[in-house]
Amino acid sequence: MERTLVLIKPDGVRRNIIGDVISRIERKGLKIVALELRTLDEETARTHYEEHTDKPFFSSLVEFITSGPLVAMVVEGNRAVEAFRSLAGATDPIIAAPGTIRGDYGLDVQANIVHGSDSTYSADREIKLFFPNLA
Ligand code: GTP
Ligand code: MG
Repeated sequence: MERTLVLIKPDGVRRNIIGDVISRIERKGLKIVALELRTLDEETARTHYEEHTDKPFFSSLVEFITSGPLVAMVVEGNRAVEAFRSLAGATDPIIAAPGTIRGDYGLDVQANIVHGSDSTYSADREIKLFFPNLA
């Protein structure tokens, strides 16, 4: 069964919407197979977002994602990568459709509440980074 890495970013934790994000994942029929609340160190954050190293917002993104605890989850189900990206909505919450997580909760392109792997290849890499002991 396909797996994806989902993060409830520090803004989502600060705003007390962990429960709603998890509810939406479960309502969709996806299964949470690992879950942890943790604060990322800078090195893990840089590795997680390595594809964005050269972007102008990279240092700001690393500062944001390490700014407090986040919830990391491995989510499993049929086409889980695409299924969660669809629940999350577009990267920019102003463009994200109402009814999606970002569309319902955000206004800020950086503090956009959730992360979901963008391919099964990224999912494999990110799951190994966050949950190295997961079978
Ligand atoms: P993730 O699931 O978090 O990877 O989001 P995404 O795949 O929808 O977007 P992308 O991988 O392109 O960007 C990663 C993250 O960088 C986004 O989720 C935002 O938090 C942040 N980000 C993207 N674009 C911008 C931008 O233009 N400015 C700033 N400050 N942050 C951005
Ligand atoms: Mg991405």
